[in-house]
Amino acid sequence: MRIGVPREVVPGERRVALVPETVQKLTKAGNEVVVERGAGVEAAFVDSAYEQAGARIVDDAFDAELIAKVQKPTADEVAKLKQGQVLVAFLQPLIDPKLAGTLAERGVAALSMDAIPRITRAQPMDALSSQATVAGYKAVLLASAALPRFFPMLTTAAGTIAPAKAFVIGAGVAGLQAIATARRLGAVVEAFDTRPVVKEQVQSLGARFLEIDLGESGEGAGGYAKELSEEAHKKEIELLAKAVRENDIVITTAAIPGRKAPVLITADMVPNMRPGSVIVDLAAETGGNCELTEPGKTVVKHGVTIIGTVNVPSTMPYHASQMYSRNVASLLALFVKEGKADVGVDDDVVKGTLITKDGAVVHEGTKKLLAAPAAAS
Ligand code: NAI
Repeated sequence: MRIGVPREVVPGERRVALVPETVQKLTKAGNEVVVERGAGVEAAFVDSAYEQAGARIVDDAFDAELIAKVQKPTADEVAKLKQGQVLVAFLQPLIDPKLAGTLAERGVAALSMDAIPRITRAQPMDALSSQATVAGYKAVLLASAALPRFFPMLTTAAGTIAPAKAFVIGAGVAGLQAIATARRLGAVVEAFDTRPVVKEQVQSLGARFLEIDLGESGEGAGGYAKELSEEAHKKEIELLAKAVRENDIVITTAAIPGRKAPVLITADMVPNMRPGSVIVDLAAETGGNCELTEPGKTVVKHGVTIIGTVNVPSTMPYHASQMYSRNVASLLALFVKEGKADVGVDDDVVKGTLITKDGAVVHEGTKKLLAAPAAAS
Protein backbone atom coordinates (compact mmCIF):
# COMPACT_ATOMS: atom_id res chain seq x y z
CA MET A 1 0.00 0.00 0.00
CA ARG A 2 1.20 3.51 -0.77
CA ILE A 3 1.24 5.89 2.21
CA GLY A 4 1.62 9.63 1.55
CA VAL A 5 3.10 12.19 3.95
CA PRO A 6 2.34 15.76 2.79
CA ARG A 7 4.14 18.83 4.10
CA GLU A 8 1.93 20.62 6.65
CA VAL A 9 0.67 23.92 5.24
CA VAL A 10 -1.15 25.51 8.21
CA PRO A 11 0.89 28.57 9.29
CA GLY A 12 3.04 27.82 12.35
CA GLU A 13 2.68 24.05 12.03
CA ARG A 14 6.19 22.55 12.16
CA ARG A 15 5.33 18.93 12.89
CA VAL A 16 5.26 16.10 10.36
CA ALA A 17 2.93 13.08 10.55
CA LEU A 18 5.50 10.31 10.02
CA VAL A 19 9.18 10.44 10.94
CA PRO A 20 11.91 8.31 9.31
CA GLU A 21 11.94 5.79 12.20
CA THR A 22 8.26 4.94 11.51
CA VAL A 23 8.71 5.11 7.74
CA GLN A 24 11.38 2.43 8.00
CA LYS A 25 9.02 0.11 9.88
CA LEU A 26 6.26 0.72 7.33
CA THR A 27 8.51 0.13 4.32
CA LYS A 28 10.00 -3.00 5.93
CA ALA A 29 6.44 -4.27 6.34
CA GLY A 30 6.04 -4.02 2.56
CA ASN A 31 4.38 -0.60 2.22
CA GLU A 32 5.55 2.14 -0.11
CA VAL A 33 5.94 5.55 1.56
CA VAL A 34 6.02 8.81 -0.41
CA VAL A 35 7.05 11.97 1.44
CA GLU A 36 6.59 15.48 0.10
CA ARG A 37 9.87 17.29 -0.41
CA GLY A 38 10.83 19.15 2.78
CA ALA A 39 7.89 17.70 4.79
CA GLY A 40 10.03 17.02 7.86
CA VAL A 41 12.60 19.80 7.57
CA GLU A 42 11.06 22.06 10.22
CA ALA A 43 11.01 19.14 12.65
CA ALA A 44 14.69 18.36 11.87
CA PHE A 45 13.94 15.32 9.67
CA VAL A 46 15.63 15.95 6.34
CA ASP A 47 14.67 14.37 3.02
CA SER A 48 17.81 12.19 2.92
CA ALA A 49 16.84 10.62 6.27
CA TYR A 50 13.48 9.64 4.76
CA GLU A 51 15.24 8.21 1.68
CA GLN A 52 17.52 6.16 3.91
CA ALA A 53 14.41 4.87 5.66
CA GLY A 54 13.09 3.64 2.31
CA ALA A 55 10.74 6.50 1.35
CA ARG A 56 10.54 8.23 -2.01
CA ILE A 57 10.64 12.04 -1.99
CA VAL A 58 7.91 13.47 -4.22
CA ASP A 59 6.40 16.86 -5.07
CA ASP A 60 2.85 15.75 -4.32
CA ALA A 61 2.22 13.14 -1.61
CA PHE A 62 -1.55 13.09 -2.15
CA ASP A 63 -1.21 10.39 -4.81
CA ALA A 64 -1.40 7.57 -2.25
CA GLU A 65 -3.97 5.17 -0.82
CA LEU A 66 -3.51 6.47 2.72
CA ILE A 67 -2.60 10.04 3.65
CA ALA A 68 -1.06 10.73 7.07
CA LYS A 69 -1.23 14.32 8.26
CA VAL A 70 -1.07 16.28 11.50
CA GLN A 71 -3.49 19.15 10.88
CA LYS A 72 -6.89 18.71 9.29
CA PRO A 73 -6.78 19.35 5.53
CA THR A 74 -7.22 22.89 4.21
CA ALA A 75 -9.74 23.53 1.41
CA ASP A 76 -6.93 23.17 -1.17
CA GLU A 77 -5.88 19.87 0.37
CA VAL A 78 -9.46 18.59 0.52
CA ALA A 79 -9.68 19.28 -3.22
CA LYS A 80 -6.75 16.88 -3.75
CA LEU A 81 -8.38 14.00 -1.87
CA LYS A 82 -9.91 11.25 -3.95
CA GLN A 83 -12.66 8.70 -3.53
CA GLY A 84 -11.46 5.61 -1.67
CA GLN A 85 -8.50 7.27 0.03
CA VAL A 86 -7.94 6.89 3.76
CA LEU A 87 -7.01 10.04 5.71
CA VAL A 88 -5.51 10.11 9.21
CA ALA A 89 -5.14 13.52 10.94
CA PHE A 90 -6.33 15.66 13.84
CA LEU A 91 -9.70 16.35 12.19
CA GLN A 92 -11.40 17.91 15.25
CA PRO A 93 -14.82 16.64 14.11
CA LEU A 94 -16.59 18.04 17.16
CA ILE A 95 -15.23 21.52 16.41
CA ASP A 96 -15.47 21.32 12.63
CA PRO A 97 -18.26 18.85 11.80
CA LYS A 98 -18.72 20.40 8.35
CA LEU A 99 -15.29 19.15 7.29
CA ALA A 100 -16.40 15.61 8.16
CA GLY A 101 -19.45 16.11 5.92
CA THR A 102 -17.23 17.26 3.05
CA LEU A 103 -14.83 14.33 3.48
CA ALA A 104 -17.78 11.94 3.43
CA GLU A 105 -19.07 13.54 0.20
CA ARG A 106 -15.67 13.05 -1.38
CA GLY A 107 -15.76 9.35 -0.46
CA VAL A 108 -12.76 9.58 1.87
CA ALA A 109 -12.47 7.24 4.86
CA ALA A 110 -11.28 9.59 7.59
CA LEU A 111 -9.87 8.69 10.99
CA SER A 112 -9.33 11.42 13.56
CA MET A 113 -6.39 11.20 15.93
CA ASP A 114 -8.29 13.29 18.48
CA ALA A 115 -11.11 10.74 18.59
CA ILE A 116 -9.03 7.79 19.83
CA PRO A 117 -11.02 6.22 22.70
CA ARG A 118 -9.35 6.87 26.08
CA ILE A 119 -9.07 3.19 26.99
CA THR A 120 -5.97 1.37 28.23
CA ARG A 121 -5.50 -0.58 24.97
CA ALA A 122 -5.51 2.66 22.96
CA GLN A 123 -2.75 4.38 24.94
CA PRO A 124 -0.05 3.77 22.27
CA MET A 125 -2.30 5.59 19.75
CA ASP A 126 -3.35 8.40 22.08
CA ALA A 127 -2.09 11.45 20.23
CA LEU A 128 -3.93 13.88 22.52
CA SER A 129 -1.88 12.52 25.42
CA SER A 130 1.44 12.51 23.57
CA GLN A 131 0.99 16.09 22.43
CA ALA A 132 -0.24 17.16 25.89
CA THR A 133 2.99 15.72 27.32
CA VAL A 134 4.96 17.99 25.01
CA ALA A 135 2.77 20.99 25.87
CA GLY A 136 3.08 20.47 29.64
CA TYR A 137 6.86 20.23 29.45
CA LYS A 138 7.23 23.23 27.14
CA ALA A 139 4.87 25.36 29.25
CA VAL A 140 7.38 25.23 32.09
CA LEU A 141 10.25 26.19 29.78
CA LEU A 142 8.23 29.11 28.42
CA ALA A 143 7.55 30.20 31.99
CA SER A 144 11.21 29.86 33.00
CA ALA A 145 12.35 31.95 30.04
CA ALA A 146 9.93 34.76 30.92
CA LEU A 147 10.43 34.63 34.70
CA PRO A 148 12.93 37.13 36.08
CA ARG A 149 13.91 34.62 38.76
CA PHE A 150 15.70 31.27 39.20
CA PHE A 151 13.59 28.13 39.53
CA PRO A 152 15.81 26.23 42.02
CA MET A 153 16.98 27.20 45.45
CA LEU A 154 20.62 28.21 45.18
CA THR A 155 23.21 28.66 47.86
CA THR A 156 25.82 30.98 46.45
CA ALA A 157 28.58 33.31 47.63
CA ALA A 158 26.08 36.08 47.00
CA GLY A 159 23.69 34.50 49.45
CA THR A 160 20.78 32.10 49.28
CA ILE A 161 18.23 32.32 46.51
CA ALA A 162 14.73 31.12 47.37
CA PRO A 163 13.15 28.66 44.92
CA ALA A 164 10.39 29.80 42.57
CA LYS A 165 6.85 28.79 43.43
CA ALA A 166 4.71 27.25 40.72
CA PHE A 167 1.01 26.49 40.71
CA VAL A 168 -0.50 24.12 38.15
CA ILE A 169 -4.25 24.23 37.60
CA GLY A 170 -5.59 21.09 35.94
CA ALA A 171 -3.59 17.92 36.60
CA GLY A 172 -4.39 15.90 33.48
CA VAL A 173 -1.69 14.72 31.09
CA ALA A 174 -0.28 18.21 30.39
CA GLY A 175 -0.58 19.35 34.00
CA LEU A 176 1.22 16.31 35.41
CA GLN A 177 4.05 16.78 32.92
CA ALA A 178 4.24 20.47 33.87
CA ILE A 179 4.45 19.51 37.56
CA ALA A 180 7.23 16.98 36.89
CA THR A 181 9.19 19.46 34.77
CA ALA A 182 8.85 22.34 37.24
CA ARG A 183 9.98 20.02 40.04
CA ARG A 184 13.01 18.89 38.00
CA LEU A 185 13.96 22.54 37.56
CA GLY A 186 13.76 22.96 41.32
CA ALA A 187 10.54 24.91 41.83
CA VAL A 188 8.23 24.35 44.78
CA VAL A 189 5.02 23.14 43.13
CA GLU A 190 1.39 22.93 44.12
CA ALA A 191 -1.50 21.84 41.95
CA PHE A 192 -5.25 21.65 41.84
CA ASP A 193 -7.78 19.67 39.84
CA THR A 194 -11.52 19.22 40.22
CA ARG A 195 -11.04 15.46 39.94
CA PRO A 196 -9.94 14.41 43.44
CA VAL A 197 -8.50 11.12 42.09
CA VAL A 198 -5.42 12.95 40.77
CA LYS A 199 -4.34 13.97 44.28
CA GLU A 200 -2.08 10.92 44.66
CA GLN A 201 -0.53 11.40 41.21
CA VAL A 202 0.26 15.03 42.06
CA GLN A 203 1.81 14.03 45.37
CA SER A 204 3.86 11.23 43.78
CA LEU A 205 5.56 13.90 41.66
CA GLY A 206 6.63 15.77 44.77
CA ALA A 207 4.02 18.52 44.54
CA ARG A 208 1.41 19.59 47.07
CA PHE A 209 -2.24 19.02 46.16
CA LEU A 210 -4.27 22.04 47.07
CA GLU A 211 -7.26 20.83 49.08
CA ILE A 212 -10.24 23.01 48.35
CA ASP A 213 -13.76 21.91 49.01
CA LEU A 214 -16.04 22.87 46.15
CA GLY A 215 -18.95 20.90 47.51
CA GLU A 216 -18.94 18.69 44.40
CA SER A 217 -16.51 16.60 42.34
CA GLY A 218 -15.52 17.48 38.78
CA GLU A 219 -15.19 13.79 37.95
CA GLY A 220 -17.33 12.91 34.93
CA ALA A 221 -17.87 9.77 32.89
CA GLY A 222 -14.82 7.69 31.92
CA GLY A 223 -12.46 9.56 34.25
CA TYR A 224 -12.94 12.86 32.40
CA ALA A 225 -13.77 16.19 33.92
CA LYS A 226 -17.34 17.46 33.77
CA GLU A 227 -18.38 21.07 33.92
CA LEU A 228 -18.88 22.37 37.46
CA SER A 229 -22.16 23.96 38.55
CA GLU A 230 -22.14 27.75 38.42
CA GLU A 231 -21.97 27.90 42.20
CA ALA A 232 -19.00 25.54 42.47
CA HIS A 233 -17.21 27.36 39.66
CA LYS A 234 -17.62 30.67 41.52
CA LYS A 235 -16.35 29.08 44.70
CA GLU A 236 -13.37 27.62 42.88
CA ILE A 237 -12.36 31.03 41.49
CA GLU A 238 -12.57 32.53 44.98
CA LEU A 239 -10.47 29.77 46.51
CA LEU A 240 -7.89 29.74 43.73
CA ALA A 241 -7.28 33.49 44.11
CA LYS A 242 -5.01 33.04 47.12
CA ALA A 243 -2.83 30.39 45.44
CA VAL A 244 -2.62 32.45 42.24
CA ARG A 245 -1.52 35.49 44.26
CA GLU A 246 1.15 33.57 46.18
CA ASN A 247 2.88 31.84 43.27
CA ASP A 248 5.46 33.16 40.80
CA ILE A 249 4.32 30.90 37.98
CA VAL A 250 0.81 29.73 37.22
CA ILE A 251 0.34 27.11 34.51
CA THR A 252 -3.25 26.46 33.55
CA THR A 253 -4.39 23.38 31.65
CA ALA A 254 -8.02 23.07 32.74
CA ALA A 255 -10.24 21.73 30.00
CA ILE A 256 -13.60 20.03 29.62
CA PRO A 257 -13.77 17.78 26.54
CA GLY A 258 -15.81 19.44 23.77
CA ARG A 259 -16.44 22.68 25.69
CA LYS A 260 -14.94 26.13 26.11
CA ALA A 261 -12.23 26.20 28.78
CA PRO A 262 -13.44 27.42 32.20
CA VAL A 263 -12.23 30.88 33.27
CA LEU A 264 -10.33 30.34 36.52
CA ILE A 265 -8.10 33.42 36.68
CA THR A 266 -10.32 36.45 36.39
CA ALA A 267 -9.10 39.87 35.21
CA ASP A 268 -9.16 41.23 38.77
CA MET A 269 -6.94 38.44 40.11
CA VAL A 270 -3.99 39.40 37.87
CA PRO A 271 -3.15 42.81 39.48
CA ASN A 272 -2.86 41.01 42.84
CA MET A 273 -0.03 38.81 41.57
CA ARG A 274 3.59 39.77 42.29
CA PRO A 275 5.17 41.89 39.53
CA GLY A 276 7.26 39.65 37.27
CA SER A 277 4.97 36.63 37.76
CA VAL A 278 4.15 34.51 34.73
CA ILE A 279 0.95 32.81 33.63
CA VAL A 280 1.18 30.17 30.89
CA ASP A 281 -2.32 29.47 29.62
CA LEU A 282 -2.32 26.12 27.84
CA ALA A 283 -6.07 26.47 27.34
CA ALA A 284 -5.56 29.60 25.16
CA GLU A 285 -6.81 27.75 22.08
CA THR A 286 -10.18 26.94 23.66
CA GLY A 287 -10.80 30.39 25.09
CA GLY A 288 -8.25 30.48 27.90
CA ASN A 289 -8.33 29.78 31.64
CA CYS A 290 -7.24 33.37 32.28
CA GLU A 291 -9.55 36.18 31.32
CA LEU A 292 -6.65 38.36 30.14
CA THR A 293 -5.05 35.75 27.86
CA GLU A 294 -4.73 36.77 24.23
CA PRO A 295 -4.54 33.56 22.17
CA GLY A 296 -1.35 33.36 20.12
CA LYS A 297 0.28 36.26 21.98
CA THR A 298 2.46 36.98 25.00
CA VAL A 299 1.23 40.09 26.79
CA VAL A 300 2.29 41.89 29.95
CA LYS A 301 -0.61 43.11 32.06
CA HIS A 302 -0.24 44.70 35.50
CA GLY A 303 3.42 43.55 35.47
CA VAL A 304 2.41 39.92 34.88
CA THR A 305 3.51 38.10 31.71
CA ILE A 306 0.62 36.12 30.25
CA ILE A 307 1.69 33.58 27.65
CA GLY A 308 -1.09 32.42 25.32
CA THR A 309 1.00 30.48 22.80
CA VAL A 310 -1.24 28.26 20.67
CA ASN A 311 -0.17 24.93 19.21
CA VAL A 312 2.57 24.53 21.83
CA PRO A 313 3.49 20.98 20.67
CA SER A 314 4.54 22.43 17.31
CA THR A 315 7.20 24.54 19.09
CA MET A 316 8.99 21.28 19.95
CA PRO A 317 8.44 19.62 16.57
CA TYR A 318 11.10 16.87 16.72
CA HIS A 319 9.72 14.92 19.64
CA ALA A 320 6.13 16.00 19.07
CA SER A 321 6.38 14.51 15.55
CA GLN A 322 8.18 11.41 16.77
CA MET A 323 5.49 10.69 19.36
CA TYR A 324 2.64 11.50 16.95
CA SER A 325 4.24 9.31 14.29
CA ARG A 326 4.39 6.38 16.72
CA ASN A 327 0.74 7.02 17.63
CA VAL A 328 -0.24 6.94 13.92
CA ALA A 329 1.80 3.77 13.27
CA SER A 330 0.11 2.01 16.21
CA LEU A 331 -3.29 2.96 14.80
CA LEU A 332 -2.36 1.81 11.29
CA ALA A 333 -1.26 -1.54 12.73
CA LEU A 334 -4.89 -2.14 13.72
CA PHE A 335 -6.36 -1.83 10.22
CA VAL A 336 -3.58 -2.11 7.64
CA LYS A 337 -3.05 -5.80 7.04
CA GLU A 338 -1.04 -7.40 4.21
CA GLY A 339 -0.72 -4.15 2.33
CA LYS A 340 -4.42 -3.26 2.50
CA ALA A 341 -6.30 -0.73 4.63
CA ASP A 342 -9.59 -2.08 5.95
CA VAL A 343 -11.25 0.62 8.06
CA GLY A 344 -14.23 -1.71 8.54
CA VAL A 345 -12.29 -4.05 10.86
CA ASP A 346 -14.04 -5.16 14.02
CA ASP A 347 -11.89 -3.15 16.43
CA ASP A 348 -13.21 -0.74 19.07
CA VAL A 349 -10.31 1.68 18.66
CA VAL A 350 -10.70 1.90 14.87
CA LYS A 351 -14.49 2.14 15.18
CA GLY A 352 -14.25 4.97 17.71
CA THR A 353 -11.71 6.87 15.63
CA LEU A 354 -13.45 6.49 12.28
CA ILE A 355 -15.34 9.67 11.29
CA THR A 356 -16.38 8.95 7.69
CA LYS A 357 -16.72 5.78 5.66
CA ASP A 358 -18.42 4.78 2.40
CA GLY A 359 -19.65 8.30 1.70
CA ALA A 360 -21.24 8.85 5.12
CA VAL A 361 -20.36 10.36 8.49
CA VAL A 362 -20.27 7.41 10.90
CA HIS A 363 -19.01 9.08 14.10
CA GLU A 364 -21.97 9.45 16.47
CA GLY A 365 -20.94 12.77 18.08
CA THR A 366 -20.28 14.34 14.67
CA LYS A 367 -23.54 13.02 13.24
CA LYS A 368 -25.45 14.65 16.10
CA LEU A 369 -23.74 18.00 15.48
CA LEU A 370 -24.46 17.84 11.76
CA ALA A 371 -28.11 17.08 12.48
CA ALA A 372 -28.35 20.31 14.55
CA PRO A 373 -28.11 23.04 11.89
CA ALA A 374 -27.00 25.81 14.27
CA ALA A 375 -24.13 23.75 15.65
CA ALA A 376 -22.99 22.62 12.22
CA SER A 377 -22.67 26.16 10.98
P1 NAI B 1 -8.03 17.51 29.59
O1 NAI B 1 -6.94 18.09 28.75
O2 NAI B 1 -9.39 17.34 29.01
O3 NAI B 1 -8.18 18.39 30.93
C1 NAI B 1 -7.06 18.75 31.70
C2 NAI B 1 -7.37 18.70 33.18
O4 NAI B 1 -8.15 19.84 33.58
C3 NAI B 1 -8.17 17.49 33.64
O5 NAI B 1 -7.41 16.79 34.60
C4 NAI B 1 -9.44 18.09 34.25
O6 NAI B 1 -9.91 17.34 35.37
C5 NAI B 1 -8.97 19.46 34.66
N1 NAI B 1 -10.05 20.45 34.89
C6 NAI B 1 -11.20 20.65 34.18
N2 NAI B 1 -11.92 21.66 34.71
C7 NAI B 1 -11.20 22.14 35.75
C8 NAI B 1 -11.43 23.18 36.69
N3 NAI B 1 -12.53 23.92 36.66
N4 NAI B 1 -10.49 23.39 37.65
C9 NAI B 1 -9.37 22.63 37.71
N5 NAI B 1 -9.10 21.62 36.84
C10 NAI B 1 -10.01 21.37 35.88
O7 NAI B 1 -7.60 16.13 30.20
P2 NAI B 1 -6.52 15.05 29.72
O8 NAI B 1 -5.21 15.41 30.25
O9 NAI B 1 -6.62 14.83 28.25
O10 NAI B 1 -7.04 13.72 30.42
C11 NAI B 1 -7.70 13.71 31.65
C12 NAI B 1 -7.85 12.26 32.15
O11 NAI B 1 -8.30 11.40 31.10
C13 NAI B 1 -6.57 11.60 32.62
O12 NAI B 1 -6.09 12.00 33.82
C14 NAI B 1 -7.03 10.15 32.60
O13 NAI B 1 -7.82 9.85 33.71
C15 NAI B 1 -7.83 10.09 31.34
N6 NAI B 1 -6.99 9.60 30.24
C16 NAI B 1 -7.06 8.28 29.89
C17 NAI B 1 -6.24 7.78 28.88
C18 NAI B 1 -6.32 6.36 28.48
O14 NAI B 1 -6.71 5.53 29.27
N7 NAI B 1 -5.98 6.04 27.25
C19 NAI B 1 -5.30 8.65 28.15
C20 NAI B 1 -5.30 10.00 28.61
C21 NAI B 1 -6.14 10.44 29.59
